[in-house]
Amino acid sequence: MDIVIMGAPGAGKGTQAERLEKSLHYTHISTGDVLRKEIASGSEAGKKIAAIIDNGDLISDEWMLSILKQVVAGIKGSIILDGFPRTVEQAEMLDKMLAELGRKVGKVIEITLPDEVVVARLSARKQCQLPSGEIKQIGPDFSLADCQAQGGEVFVRKDDAPESVMHRLSVYHKQTEPVLDFYRKAGRFEEINGNQTPDAVFNELVSVLKA
Ligand code: AP5
Ligand code: MG
Repeated sequence: MDIVIMGAPGAGKGTQAERLEKSLHYTHISTGDVLRKEIASGSEAGKKIAAIIDNGDLISDEWMLSILKQVVAGIKGSIILDGFPRTVEQAEMLDKMLAELGRKVGKVIEITLPDEVVVARLSARKQCQLPSGEIKQIGPDFSLADCQAQGGEVFVRKDDAPESVMHRLSVYHKQTEPVLDFYRKAGRFEEINGNQTPDAVFNELVSVLKA
């Protein structure tokens, strides 16, 4: 059973999806991470993507789906999608694409978080680029000391600049919130409170998944 984790920017999708990957053996696909890897490769496509992401806008549905298709095609077990779908069109395309691959979205879980907590979290967020190129998030599961001990470099995501965060939030409310209704109507939707400790969020997530 594949699952989709939704939520506003900074709701904790990546933090929780990584934990689920480690403990329940899902493969975590963050479309944001996939796009950032393309940017890091220095490709022409990456340059176009950077201009869109840094501003906090969305990559076009067709482009995003074609990128995602290539990633999902190589995966055998269950997946956790983090950051996709972000529009109702993407949700419809996803059902079709997964059906073609003999897959299905089993559960959709939204991690809820008030806007003011989003702004506070993202203005404090820091990332660590390890010498291998891997990017880790500094937070409860990987400390600043871990980053320094592994020779990493600390940086801030360009789209965490205050004006981008405000824009990402408005894009989320306008373009992504309708996706929640799409799944609510389809009867495969659950909501959990993201405004608690990472361990408490994780425990709620696991109970929803096991229900
Ligand atoms: P993406 O990378 O998906 O960004 P996002 O959705 O804005 O979400 P974030 O990654 O910022 O936050 P998160 O929910 O993962 O939270 P996290 O765990 O990091 O997308 C980036 C861009 O790519 C988009 O804007 C768009 O341009 C493009 N894109 C991606 N997908 C697309 C698509 N499908 N279609 C079109 N374009 C697409 O946590 C945040 C912070 O809070 C961290 O510092 C963390 O340590 C901390 N934290 C986490 N949990 C807790 C907790 N419980 N308590 C306290 N702090 C916590
Ligand atoms: Mg993320």
